[in-house]
Amino acid sequence: MGIVGWPQETNARIVAAWRDLGVTAGMLLPAEARLLLGRHDVGVGRFDVRESLDGVQPGIEILTELERDGVRVVNRAEALLNAHDKLRTARLLGDADLPHPKTRHVRSLEDATDMAPPVVVKPRFGSWGTDVFRCETSLEIAQTLAAVRSRPWFVKHGALVQELVPPVGYDLRLVVAAGQVVGAVQRAARAGEWRTNVAIGGTRRPARPPHEACALGVMAAAIIGADLVGVDLLPAAGGYVVLELNGAVEFDRTYDLGDANVFAAAAAALHLPRLPIRLRPTISSGRTPAPSRPKSRVS
Ligand SMILES: Nc1ncnc2c1ncn2[C@@H]1O[C@H](COP(=O)(O)OP(=O)(O)O)[C@@H](O)[C@H]1O
Ligand SMILES: [Mg+2]
Repeated sequence: MGIVGWPQETNARIVAAWRDLGVTAGMLLPAEARLLLGRHDVGVGRFDVRESLDGVQPGIEILTELERDGVRVVNRAEALLNAHDKLRTARLLGDADLPHPKTRHVRSLEDATDMAPPVVVKPRFGSWGTDVFRCETSLEIAQTLAAVRSRPWFVKHGALVQELVPPVGYDLRLVVAAGQVVGAVQRAARAGEWRTNVAIGGTRRPARPPHEACALGVMAAAIIGADLVGVDLLPAAGGYVVLELNGAVEFDRTYDLGDANVFAAAAAALHLPRLPIRLRPTISSGRTPAPSRPKSRVS
């Protein structure tokens, strides 16, 4: 099976962990996937957003072609787009009546007039907390939209203005695989920072997600059609709201639930075929290298 996408630290971790379990896994660039995967193979779509935040990494359409070739694709192109495009996410969660902050798509200040502060201004295809702004007044909303007006992501897609869920300093991130919560962490914001992203200094702490959070995470993943996804929940009013879903979710062993290795739990949930013990390579360092150096940014 292949992890299909572009180099990323978690992709390399997944490949290494799944190989140790006896899954014949490799990291495949889009063009390689088309050549190497066929019927009875599994392709795990792990395309992320572009660093410029103006869309999804190139080549995602290969996932649809793989499906046509009879490859079992987990995280189909549409699911990845539903996760990466926060406007689609908002519409899908809203239609399903799942708790999600009120969200407006704006191309100008006039579009945001019905959004009372405090709000958050962010890109449609965002990640790593980049260009996510908190606005406490109408003046700050106007100033923020003026400040981002010439960014490539704004020019292409406008911005989202979203109701602020009063920050409590941490959030809960679940990894959901095939309808099961297989991993979770609490992400604590850096001191003096309201955003919880690890890329801007947040820290991961092991978590034991409550049943209510798991049920919500599983529903959110199902609504966007994702097979392997991160679901970010913000604590709110005695419960949770779904903030966003990450189609190329970054995770590591901090996400283990108790003794259960998150990578093994994901492989089991996805029913990935494993070689019988007697056929497994004995030297686990005999891994084929990732095509290029993995990116080390984490969301
Ligand atoms: N509407 C919101 N209410 C409260 N906090 C928010 C809101 N939107 C974003 N945040 C905070 O900012 C962080 C980054 O926002 P997010 O929408 O997840 O974008 P990104 O894709 O860049 O991670 C979140 O992890 C959360 O801590
Ligand atoms: Mg986020």
